[in-house]
Amino acid sequence: MTAELIDGKAIANQIKQELKIEVEKLKSSGIVPGLATLLVGEDPASQIYVRNKHKACQEIGIASFNHLMPKESSQKEVLEKMNQLNLDPKVHAILVQLPLPAQINPHDILYAIKPSKDADGFHPVNLGRLFAAKDLTELRSNQQVIPLPCTPYGVLELLDRSKISIQGKNAVVVGRSMIVGKPMAALLLARHATVTVTHSQTKNLIECCRSAELLVAAIGKAKFIQGNMVKEGAAVIDVGINRNANGSLSGDVDFEAAKEKAGWITPVPGGVGPMTIVMLLKNTVELCKAAGGT
Ligand code: GUN
Repeated sequence: MTAELIDGKAIANQIKQELKIEVEKLKSSGIVPGLATLLVGEDPASQIYVRNKHKACQEIGIASFNHLMPKESSQKEVLEKMNQLNLDPKVHAILVQLPLPAQINPHDILYAIKPSKDADGFHPVNLGRLFAAKDLTELRSNQQVIPLPCTPYGVLELLDRSKISIQGKNAVVVGRSMIVGKPMAALLLARHATVTVTHSQTKNLIECCRSAELLVAAIGKAKFIQGNMVKEGAAVIDVGINRNANGSLSGDVDFEAAKEKAGWITPVPGGVGPMTIVMLLKNTVELCKAAGGT
């Protein structure tokens, strides 16, 4: 079998167009959705990620505010910045770029973001609501919007828009990070998959992956998922972005081998990557609307 390619770039562009229309509607009633980012320090990869987020905001008409703090900033100074952004009426969504410097506890900072301005959905209240939800409609049917972590939310959109069913499927998530693995598992559970979360200590990882009808790789190791770990006809979603010595990018999946077994597969680049930013824009627009910009 040669897998059908899931074109993340095309799907992300489609969602961007939908958001552009929503932003125009908001602007015509005098409301400009606003996203504030905070980068502490000068990590080059983080600088690129933040720059790309601002570029995407510009493309669809969201106002974006770029806050930079020196790498030696104290936890107190960063908490003060959070307070200031929480109170700013032009800011509907706040994103703290991770990782933070070692002297700062990321969980304390994420906890200080007002849950109703949480662009990433990493605030414990929002994560808690996601884990507590019986299903996703419950999260969307309340007056209040629960922002969902952008990368897993993007994976869900890729599956839905590619008409890949989730309900009742055996889903295996490889990786247990707060940013991807854990919220991915919660989202898949809320869409009625049977979910297994695996990680570096998992026994029988090969067999476990091979049982997956839906395999999400988010382990951060280039080509970690080999062809023998892919079930015939499975949907394989590769969240990994690993830079090779020659500067090229590899996912967490050995793409060439996996595509011969999978039913669907995401490429790297051009799969999950473009979705993460677009779901950040979607969270920003939804939070803005929930704040009164209907
Ligand atoms: N660092 C790596 N991925 C992410 C993400 O999705 N959000 C934030 N805030 N930082 C990150």
